[in-house]
Amino acid sequence: MTRGAPSPTLQPGDTVGILGGGQLARMLSLAAASLGLRTNIFCPDDACPAFHVSDSATIAAYTDKTALQNFAGRVDVVTYEFENVPVDAVAILEAAGVTVRPGAVALEKAQDRLVEKQFIRSLEVATAEFHGVDDLAGLDQGLQNVGRPAILKTRRLGYDGKGQTRLTEQDIDLHASFEKAVAFAWAEVGAAPSILEAFVPFEREVSIIGARAADGAIQLYEPIENVHAGGILKTSTAPARISAATRAAAERATIAILEALDYIGVIGVEFFVLPSGAIVVNEMAPRVHNSGHLTADACAISQFEQHIRAVAGWPLGDPSRHSDAVMENLIGDDVKAWRDIIREPNAALHLYGKKEARPGRKMGHVTRLTARSPAK
Ligand SMILES: Nc1ncnc2c1ncn2[C@@H]1O[C@H](COP(=O)(O)OP(=O)(O)O)[C@@H](O)[C@H]1O
Ligand SMILES: [Mg+2]
Repeated sequence: MTRGAPSPTLQPGDTVGILGGGQLARMLSLAAASLGLRTNIFCPDDACPAFHVSDSATIAAYTDKTALQNFAGRVDVVTYEFENVPVDAVAILEAAGVTVRPGAVALEKAQDRLVEKQFIRSLEVATAEFHGVDDLAGLDQGLQNVGRPAILKTRRLGYDGKGQTRLTEQDIDLHASFEKAVAFAWAEVGAAPSILEAFVPFEREVSIIGARAADGAIQLYEPIENVHAGGILKTSTAPARISAATRAAAERATIAILEALDYIGVIGVEFFVLPSGAIVVNEMAPRVHNSGHLTADACAISQFEQHIRAVAGWPLGDPSRHSDAVMENLIGDDVKAWRDIIREPNAALHLYGKKEARPGRKMGHVTRLTARSPAK
């Protein structure tokens, strides 16, 4: 492969560099290995789940310029498993001559919830009503604009419902006054630049895992229906119980996002579905997505392989689904059930190799398969 080529195409034996070493990087690394590619995992922590299954590792901070430059010299393309990689790290890698897919633009849009919502709106796709909040007065103004109930979220670095707090009538009763409830919410997000969103009275949540190749070809997995508990994904089910019109609207929005970002790789787009069937984009993840884990067992080509194909400059695979599936995240102590799960027929168990089962920590998942239901 020619290094620094604007549009690299990898050969078997080449190396994909992955920023981040969690379970997503681990599953990407396994998929890369199946295609004869190597991975080098860049992660600040020396106990990363992805290290167990990768060819090589770089243990350094995402701000370590020398480490990034050395990493750039050892890999043929770079991707990432999480959207909070500093954009500066991408700039350093690109200056060192390696292509990063998806690129800096997707990262910039996805790592700031305010920028992300403005971007989605610019595509004429609906989002929750929102208001940027920089201080208490801004929060007050925001509540007047978006109404109640509302959700206050930090603009940056939130995940799995972290960095979020709700503002409902009950909270206000609980805090004895509106002012106290507002001040409490502001403290809850660490008084950091935030976004206030109107609470969307959704009927269900769905996601689309989409992929765009280096040549612009797009493939979408079928919509997946998601249930969250305490802000963390609990189950993902395919097929999703939505109409053909809702599906088409979600697909159009996903394609618009992929094209506007000139995206290369897999993206996860989260939607709220209203009782009317209309869709509202919640957020997008410029990477493989937890709701797409069922593709590993219910589709011929997993989201992980699809992402590796795209970043390698290879053609995308067929995303069609051969089985119905329910994926359940094993969070914290849930993982203790592994001995029972492993005995279940048609259940595919995936464990991430994490030592300690802390509350809220994703330890693994199980995908239960049944025969594909006839298309509606
Ligand atoms: N504006 C909203 N209206 C209703 N529910 C919401 C809203 N924002 C978030 N939620 C709920 O909280 C979950 C997590 O929020 P999300 O913004 O996706 O954050 P994270 O980055 O932590 O996944 C969503 O999947 C949804 O269930
Ligand atoms: Mg989310």
